[in-house]
Amino acid sequence: MNILLIGSGGREHALAWKIAQSSRLTRLFIAPGNAGTSATGTNVALPAGDFDRVVEFIHDNHIRMVVVGPEAPLVEGIVDFLEKHPLSRQVMVIGPPSSGARLEGSKVFAKEFMRRHGIPTAASERYDRGTLRDAQAFIASHQPPFVLKADGLAAGKGVLICHGRTEALAGLDEMLVHDKFGDAGRQILLEEFLEGIELSAFVITDGSDYRILPEAKDYKRIGDGDTGPNTGGMGAISPVPFADETFKNKVETKIIVPTIRGLQKENIPFRGFLFFGLMNVEGEPFLIEYNVRMGDPEAEAIMPRIGSDLVELFEATATGKLSQATVTIDSRFCATVILASAGYPGNYEKGKRISNADHLTGGLLFHAGTSRDPRSGDILTSGGRVMAISSLGRDLRKALEISYQNAQIISFEGKYYRKDIGNDLLMGTIR
Ligand code: AMP
Ligand code: GLY
Repeated sequence: MNILLIGSGGREHALAWKIAQSSRLTRLFIAPGNAGTSATGTNVALPAGDFDRVVEFIHDNHIRMVVVGPEAPLVEGIVDFLEKHPLSRQVMVIGPPSSGARLEGSKVFAKEFMRRHGIPTAASERYDRGTLRDAQAFIASHQPPFVLKADGLAAGKGVLICHGRTEALAGLDEMLVHDKFGDAGRQILLEEFLEGIELSAFVITDGSDYRILPEAKDYKRIGDGDTGPNTGGMGAISPVPFADETFKNKVETKIIVPTIRGLQKENIPFRGFLFFGLMNVEGEPFLIEYNVRMGDPEAEAIMPRIGSDLVELFEATATGKLSQATVTIDSRFCATVILASAGYPGNYEKGKRISNADHLTGGLLFHAGTSRDPRSGDILTSGGRVMAISSLGRDLRKALEISYQNAQIISFEGKYYRKDIGNDLLMGTIR
């Protein structure tokens, strides 16, 4: 069958790489893709926000399955649009409709959903401009740290962890008075700070059944030792050694099962990936957030560990037959290291020539922010996160060793990467 994959990052290259190995695939199109995805299929300049053009493309190219990588088109309702349109109604779609995408698109909705279904999460209260004084009074009468969350999508920047009252009051002002996040910050959650260890769990669901995918740990800060500003993620490790069977069973029974049942009870037809951002608080899992897609860079660490045919798994998901599907997982470790542009997550330059991308030894290279110079054919940087190097190893140390050797081989002006991905797990000094 012909498949259209929407997105352009490292996650999409990892998905495209895995889809391209399927015996079910005839042609793969990636919209818009990057310089790496063009080795797995055909990149097409199709703006994901222009749903009419997406439908036209589906029709013209006999697309049977659409896989939506990023959250924005899901929250904007691409799935609802495709499912209603006479020319795309028959197409299998991986990704939830907007009713399900609200789990990621609105933190207030997600929190209320967690409460309705008894899912363990941090205590929190909702505020808007009209109740600003109540939020200020709460801060004045409670002890820091405080967690402030803009309700809507804010490109990973909508969460402030404030260690003092002054900072929290300033954050409130920015969000509720000065509209720092526009519409996304019109409502906020003021949330209890959870002290614990973060990790993420993933499932694919057809709305009634689910299959658990490998868990992963993401490294969100730009600097070694988890310092500096938050990024989209600078590396990932899968599996996560401290997530033992007892903990994973708790995640399944206290978080995953109530979520799937909750979706059913609320008549939300969810066919796609669900990503659970978790905090392990002294052995108990708490849900920090939902995402309605794979993670990036978690996908780059997880896809190499999935043994099963991904397109068969997607078919089972889209047709409600996940109960008959099996997912095989490679027991080896996968370590992903992101190569970024100097200056990221702040301002950075683009258009730097990348060399040695075809000289890797033993690792997998997933492109993120790259493009190809149409004249010279050179690969150029075009984003903050430029590439992900993922390596499988019999243990974490070996996987990291291969990724870090390859991180040195690839070169471009301003190349930056964290040198300590996975170190906390190796040393058992988990932050
Ligand atoms: P989110 O955008 O919801 O993933 O939040 C970004 C980051 O903020 C998370 O990865 C956590 O590190 C942190 N965070 C969010 N909520 C809390 C909380 N209630 N307690 C402690 N840290 C949190
Ligand atoms: N790496 C975190 C995310 O994809 O949201």
